[in-house]
Amino acid sequence: MSDTWETKKPDDLAISVHPELASLRLGDYAWKSRAEEFDRLVQASHCQLIHSIRQTLRRPTAGMLFGSGQIEDIRRQVEINEADVVFVDHPLTPVQQRNLEKALDAKVVDRTGLILEIFASRARTREGVLQVELASLNYQLGRLVRSWTHLERQRGGFGFMGGPGERQIELDRRMIRDRIQSLEKDLEKVTRMRATQRSGRQRKAIPTLALVGYTNAGKSTLFNLLTEAEVYVADQLFATLDPTLRMLVLPGGGRLMLSDTVGFVQELPHELVDAFKATLEEVIEADLILHVRDAADPMFAEQGRVVEKTLEQLGLVGDLAPPVLEVLNKADLAPNLKSHIGESIADSRMVISATTGQGLDELMRMLGEWAGRGMQELSLTLDLSDGKALAFCHEYGEVISKTPGDETLQVVVRLNVSDVARFKLKSGIHRLEQA
Ligand code: GTP
Repeated sequence: MSDTWETKKPDDLAISVHPELASLRLGDYAWKSRAEEFDRLVQASHCQLIHSIRQTLRRPTAGMLFGSGQIEDIRRQVEINEADVVFVDHPLTPVQQRNLEKALDAKVVDRTGLILEIFASRARTREGVLQVELASLNYQLGRLVRSWTHLERQRGGFGFMGGPGERQIELDRRMIRDRIQSLEKDLEKVTRMRATQRSGRQRKAIPTLALVGYTNAGKSTLFNLLTEAEVYVADQLFATLDPTLRMLVLPGGGRLMLSDTVGFVQELPHELVDAFKATLEEVIEADLILHVRDAADPMFAEQGRVVEKTLEQLGLVGDLAPPVLEVLNKADLAPNLKSHIGESIADSRMVISATTGQGLDELMRMLGEWAGRGMQELSLTLDLSDGKALAFCHEYGEVISKTPGDETLQVVVRLNVSDVARFKLKSGIHRLEQA
């Protein structure tokens, strides 16, 4: 798996630079929260963030983005703090990145590079690893200019700043393209396998529920609480990368497949949205989406909008899209919830705390009701010799109880309405009793 920047050591010292476009006129508060999110991303990449710089950009320059006085300021901070990496919260062209690296004598990484790095360190399933590598190679492909490249370093190249010749760049390009092709094939196979698993679930009529939310909203914590599974939970952005599926048993005995998904962020680089589409397939194919929101975050409203926009990008709007249920999490940290997020929102949503368990029973009850919609609970009297009818119940429904008699078997089963019709057709049993 290729790293996004090869000089990286686990505790690289980092500086973050927040260019503020004068034309954007972000309010002080919005700017601060954006900068904080970027700094949290830096920390999530396991770098040690030692200094943060705010720079107003009146006229971004094509060569270096910043003006010469600003470059000097940043360079001085790199020197004083002995920083290895400078993270710039702005997209950089390959040329800007190369020029900045020269001027600052440090590795320079933009937002896409940073998010890729975090994805790379968090990918755990085969699919996640493949997707990250693919995204990372596509990103590198666009960056192969006469500059530092990781392939050069793998070859034991001649240092940080020197660049390969044009011929070498061509070879690197070809190597990357070949690798991309083979990754795409592997990914196709893995995706097909997942699709088979999914159709297996669909046949069994177990509805799926996908947890989505802004990064750090508490999805994994809630997922663990609901399923008592051990998913990696950390107070870091992007703690979850790969979809994790677990069975959730609801009050009343119903079942749901629950999937935890990667957190959404503002301006997820478009290269990543495409590459991660398969990761989000669980969301696309879910029957119900649970939007987990951090009710205590000062940027509550903005974060909600980012999630809604991402769902829209995934095509999850309109009549055919699965319903979205919002839950307001971290209620324990938001004692003045109503004044903080607005009375009508607070009153119309489910309020929970994934750490204290507040509101969990109510949530489970609601999910139980939802999963039970369209289901019928039937009491069947089957001939002991009728193996097929019993097999149908097991495959398509949820068998709640089986009570053997002398010549018959009493079965209580929950079936989807459409499967009830199929059962009648296949078994020839037309009079069914509600349990
Ligand atoms: P990503 O994987 O980055 O998308 O994050 P996530 O949404 O899965 O969040 P995660 O469950 O990792 O939680 C983020 C942080 O919030 C962790 O430190 C949790 O312990 C904390 N947290 C989650 N839910 C609650 C809650 O209800 N109350 C409090 N106080 N903290 C919570």
